[in-house]
Amino acid sequence: MNVEIRPCRDREELQSYGQVVSYVFSINQDEDMERELQAVEPEWTMCAFVDGRVVSTYGAFPFTVRLNGSPVEMGGVTAVGTLPHHRRKGLLRKTMTAGLHAMHERGQPFGILWASMGAIYQRFGYGLATPHIAYKFDPRNVELLPGQRTPGRCELIESENALEQIRPVQEAYAASRNMVIERPPYLWKMGALRSREKRKVYTAVYRNAAGEVTGYVVYNTREAPRDELGPNQVLEVQDLAWLDLDAYRGLWEFIRSHDLVYEVQIRGLVGEDDPMQELLLEPRMVDKRTVDGVWMRIVDVERGLAARPYREPGALCLEVVDDLLPWNNGRWAFETDGTATTVSRTVREPELTMPVATLATLISGHRGATVLERAGKLEAASMAALRRADRMFATEYAPLTPDDF
Ligand SMILES: CC(C)(COP(=O)(O)OP(=O)(O)OC[C@H]1O[C@@H](n2cnc3c(N)ncnc32)[C@H](O)[C@@H]1OP(=O)(O)O)[C@@H](O)C(=O)NCCC(=O)NCCS
Repeated sequence: MNVEIRPCRDREELQSYGQVVSYVFSINQDEDMERELQAVEPEWTMCAFVDGRVVSTYGAFPFTVRLNGSPVEMGGVTAVGTLPHHRRKGLLRKTMTAGLHAMHERGQPFGILWASMGAIYQRFGYGLATPHIAYKFDPRNVELLPGQRTPGRCELIESENALEQIRPVQEAYAASRNMVIERPPYLWKMGALRSREKRKVYTAVYRNAAGEVTGYVVYNTREAPRDELGPNQVLEVQDLAWLDLDAYRGLWEFIRSHDLVYEVQIRGLVGEDDPMQELLLEPRMVDKRTVDGVWMRIVDVERGLAARPYREPGALCLEVVDDLLPWNNGRWAFETDGTATTVSRTVREPELTMPVATLATLISGHRGATVLERAGKLEAASMAALRRADRMFATEYAPLTPDDF
């Protein structure tokens, strides 16, 4: 058995990659797979070829992600799959390792992914970087606290013109956020503006008192009859962005005004700091559910630590343990004025010691150092170091990755 690990060479090999991906992820319509492949370049893939045939796949989109407001290059890992009769023979370990080396060569200090199962990726040094929060509610039960009026108004806009009106809002929204992808055209097309079930997609914008668009919601609706009498529709929000609280409240009221809807679903579009919990008369009625979201792998500790802004100036000495990418191992001295950060190797005693996966969680702002220490995920030489790390690594916004990829 001859095993070769390498990217696809051309679009013809990419078709074979597509066949494995269709099988593994049950993409039954050829046209759906074709559309997905249009967004992929052969050189972004890493495959295992067994006797000349693709049997294991991996891809990595070249994303720019706002890390605490700063644009950072990240590989968006996708399409990880091995055909059943080739599983548990170490092929993913080979493609994953080669893929992380390729990111390193490209200068991408991080890789991110949505996992079908966290267990697959934690062993490769991925740490949790965002939560996935879902709301599911009856619009009649989510009234805002009294006295909250919006000076603007919402309106439905034509789908053909939607992107040009809402893209500037999404870009402004993303710019200061944490873990939001700078959305390339294919993520708009394949994700935010597309209904996977091929439903009609609507866009409503919020205009403030001056007539400027300061928020939008993209959604679909469907008839979903149930036993109870009354409203019989479900409204699924596909994308949502707002530039201020007025816009957010206005959009919420717009969603609530769908009289024939008995269930609104908002999945993966808000972070832990979503203001909604503060705005509602009955917060529990959004039926909030939180699971693991995006996992992040630090490909290059030195560049990764320097890539993001910090909440306050300070210095820390870290020891990092990485059993897959040897250049990350060792002691790192890092010093920041909040914006500019220098990172260098040191022989000093570490103040914090952790596996590379824990550092990913810390850098993303998903969990603070003290919480991680209490969970046994890092060791601290002193309480002072732990508290300093809490303050330095805190992010302006809670991490959130609204895009699926
Ligand atoms: C997950 C998948 C890609 C693994 O591929 P594979 O080629 O069999 O993986 P490997 O043999 O290289 O295994 C790599 C490691 O992951 C572990 N692993 C593999 N699949 C796992 C799973 N489903 N759960 C937990 N651990 C898993 C292996 O035990 C192995 O550990 P080790 O290297 O420490 O011994 C394959 O099972 C698959 O295609 N699954 C269905 C699709 C899927 O879930 N893809 C992930 C999408 S995000």
